[in-house]
Amino acid sequence: MNKKSVLSDLAILGGYPAFEESLHVGRPNIGNRKKFEERVDDILNRRWLTNAGFYVKEFERRLAELIGVKHCIAMCNATTALEITIRALDLKGEVIVPSFTFIATANALQWQEITPIFCDIDPKTHNIDPRKVEQMITPRTTGIVGVHVWGRPCDINALAEIARRHKLKLIFDAAHAFGCSYGGSMLGSFGNAEIFSFHATKFLNTLEGGAVATNDDSLAVKLRLMKNFGFTEFDKTDYIGVNGKMNEISAAMGLTNLESLNDFVDINYRNYRQYREELSDIEGVNCMGYDEKERCNYQYIILEIDASQTILTRDQLIKLLHAENILARRYFYPGCHRMEPYKSYFPHAGLMLSETGKLTDRVLCLPTGTGVNEAQINSVCQILRFVIENNDAISSKMNTCKESRLG
Ligand SMILES: Cc1ncc(COP(=O)(O)O)c(C=O)c1O
Repeated sequence: MNKKSVLSDLAILGGYPAFEESLHVGRPNIGNRKKFEERVDDILNRRWLTNAGFYVKEFERRLAELIGVKHCIAMCNATTALEITIRALDLKGEVIVPSFTFIATANALQWQEITPIFCDIDPKTHNIDPRKVEQMITPRTTGIVGVHVWGRPCDINALAEIARRHKLKLIFDAAHAFGCSYGGSMLGSFGNAEIFSFHATKFLNTLEGGAVATNDDSLAVKLRLMKNFGFTEFDKTDYIGVNGKMNEISAAMGLTNLESLNDFVDINYRNYRQYREELSDIEGVNCMGYDEKERCNYQYIILEIDASQTILTRDQLIKLLHAENILARRYFYPGCHRMEPYKSYFPHAGLMLSETGKLTDRVLCLPTGTGVNEAQINSVCQILRFVIENNDAISSKMNTCKESRLG
């Protein structure tokens, strides 16, 4: 890691990159390897690799206990889990969903020919704005999918009240939110169901994986059947189903990582505090906060860049950081409504999504997690400070070199 003192130290201006090895957002957290290897050996000895095996059952039991919910159904990933939940709840017609989310949330609806109606967000929380949800309801609306973006809960009470009044189903894409709470209760116990992702980049990973949490007994039965082709017994199906099963090795990884969950949170929290502290006085850079009265996993370090103050735009900052091998991301740019097929289906959706449009141009996500240490964070912050202190000079160099790799 080398310090930047003069402009020519910046990699984009010919200097050496700050990091020899790239610093990623979402490098996997990995618990005790020995424990994982022992479990894998046991799985191989049992010769039971999937189909409601010992480890999947144990993982589901531990998840349900930790969340405080009646049922937790492990699946192969959160996208499939969303699709199955949407089908099991019989959603049809139109479903209201934020555009400020990962494309999988919208795709899970459109894949089943349900129209995602993109709703704007509250710029303070980055989550779907309940006041705007009301305005999007039509006679064709059957449900609302809230997304707990960055693990910060939606305004669940307001959404639940709207769903109750209009007799709509309510589910939450909680892909970011494992280990987080709302009003002191763990996420996973709200709405008709909540869906977690355990993808490798998520705070708790099972390599690939996901789970649906619900307190609804009959929904749980349906979900279990649907993720296993609809089979109720050998040679008998009750519903149409798919293959959404989690395998035993993934569950072993999940169980192993669960044992280190508190360590992961502690490290994320320490990183978060350091970023907040080191970036606190840079004008135009706001490091998003978490509500520390709630349980949080602190898995995302989100900066909001106000280019009227930083002069350098969010995208210019990303370019500068990438040149240093700091692979910052611009989640969820450009917003689902500006990606295909939605862009063609709803060319005017942006008119109702002004806050989403603004936010997708401001967010910059920085590396954190167990793969990132104090010195690396210090270096990332030092570079950000250095480039913003020298914004005029860097901006004019970048703007005059629009044709070159600098622009
Ligand atoms: C908000 C959101 N929803 C859904 C998903 C899909 O999760 P998976 O990769 O487990 O299918 C992701 C994954 O990044 C996500 O961020």
